[in-house]
Amino acid sequence: MAGDMADNVILVGFMGAGKSSVGRLLARRLGRCFVETDDMITAKEGRPIPEIFTGRGEPHFRALEDEAVRLLALKRGDVIATGGGLPCQDGRVEALQALGTVVWLSGDLATLCERALRSGDRPMLHGKTREEIETLYKSREPFYAKADLRVDTTSLNPDQVVAEVWKALEARTRLPHPAVPR
Ligand code: S3P
Repeated sequence: MAGDMADNVILVGFMGAGKSSVGRLLARRLGRCFVETDDMITAKEGRPIPEIFTGRGEPHFRALEDEAVRLLALKRGDVIATGGGLPCQDGRVEALQALGTVVWLSGDLATLCERALRSGDRPMLHGKTREEIETLYKSREPFYAKADLRVDTTSLNPDQVVAEVWKALEARTRLPHPAVPR
């Protein structure tokens, strides 16, 4: 393991992958703290993400993500859920890997979109056609694919995804505590 910061588990993936729900459950089972970069950003700005996009635009939101990544350097042994666009720039996945094990929650795009449209307000999907969403996804996939581990969530519920992530982490022998899965 590359130093003590490597204990974090960092979830990446497209909108609708289940990073928040899986992250929260996984943290509970590992007995760790759960951190979401989107929450760090909304707490700092004092308003929800859709309002940040409407008021200041995507570039401002991405600058806030940069700052959130810098603050993640303070985290030890946490489960961290990232926003869908956060890992998608050169050097970013590598920066996350310096903080811990990066896990890609992947899935069939139609399933991801259906989930994303069902829950929460995603400015990145506003007014986009199916083709535009697919283009966005394709541009992001190479970044997600750099993750250390991948779990396909397409036909799994959050509990099952947690179990798969657990297994994958264990196989990599990077579980920091001898905790027992429930
Ligand atoms: C975004 C995904 C969102 C949030 C913001 C931008 C993106 O997070 O960070 O709306 O660019 O894909 P989720 O992936 O949790 O939906």
